[in-house]
Amino acid sequence: MNSDPATTGLEDESPAYRKRRDEIAARAAEHVLGEPIAAVEYTEAEHALWRLVSQRLAERHRDLAAPEFLAAAERLGVAEDGVPQLQDVSERLHGLTGFRLRPAPGVVPFALFCGSLADGYFHSTQYLRDGATPFYSTEPDILHEVIGHGSAMADDRFAALYRLAGEAVRRVESETAVQFVAKTFWFTVECGLLDAVDGPRAYGASIVSSYGELEHFRSADIRPLDIADMARVDYDITQYQTTLYSARSLAHLEDVAGEFWASCDDTSIEKLLVVDI
Ligand SMILES: [Fe+2]
Repeated sequence: MNSDPATTGLEDESPAYRKRRDEIAARAAEHVLGEPIAAVEYTEAEHALWRLVSQRLAERHRDLAAPEFLAAAERLGVAEDGVPQLQDVSERLHGLTGFRLRPAPGVVPFALFCGSLADGYFHSTQYLRDGATPFYSTEPDILHEVIGHGSAMADDRFAALYRLAGEAVRRVESETAVQFVAKTFWFTVECGLLDAVDGPRAYGASIVSSYGELEHFRSADIRPLDIADMARVDYDITQYQTTLYSARSLAHLEDVAGEFWASCDDTSIEKLLVVDI
């Protein structure tokens, strides 16, 4: 996620980075739901990394992020001067839209991750990417979680969509259906675009938190938002996306993705997949 296609991943990480990441992840794994999230004492280098990436992303957001996302980010008000504590972000979000964050030690299986959204919980990592590679990450890090997802979840309408996706993955039973919900989540919540007068703009957390992909996404095959069409395309989270979907408006996104998540079940998803094979 948020990867630079030219990189190969974990082998590029230094042992010192890996140790630091694993320390923070181990503490996240000890978190008990309902308890306050333990603070992480971030180093000055980590604060400097946050400042660098968040400020550079904010510059690109002005031209390339959807106005609805920009308003949501302003509502959350994440500081650019240092790594925020998850507990503080969680309290702020809860006051805005009812969502809370819960610390995660790494990637959480999709059904659990997405299902928790129905309960108003978002699993969030607490560690940052390797400072040697500030503009990409081989996995979701706190920059992605807070700047990408946290911002979106500060808006009532985006937050309602996150909840509907959670309810959808809780409703379906077959692994095939879970995987299709994951695909619709990827093409919207993670990589979604909204039409604007100057071209498509991003609201998807993966794109808005990726300095490189913000530069590249307008070169993708950008299609009108269409759930059935998603059955016909593949995706690779380790690469810049070659196919993306743009909704005409937030209301159109609610009509298409929101309605799909609100009503889908194993049978309706099977029909979509059979028709499109
Ligand atoms: Fe994400």
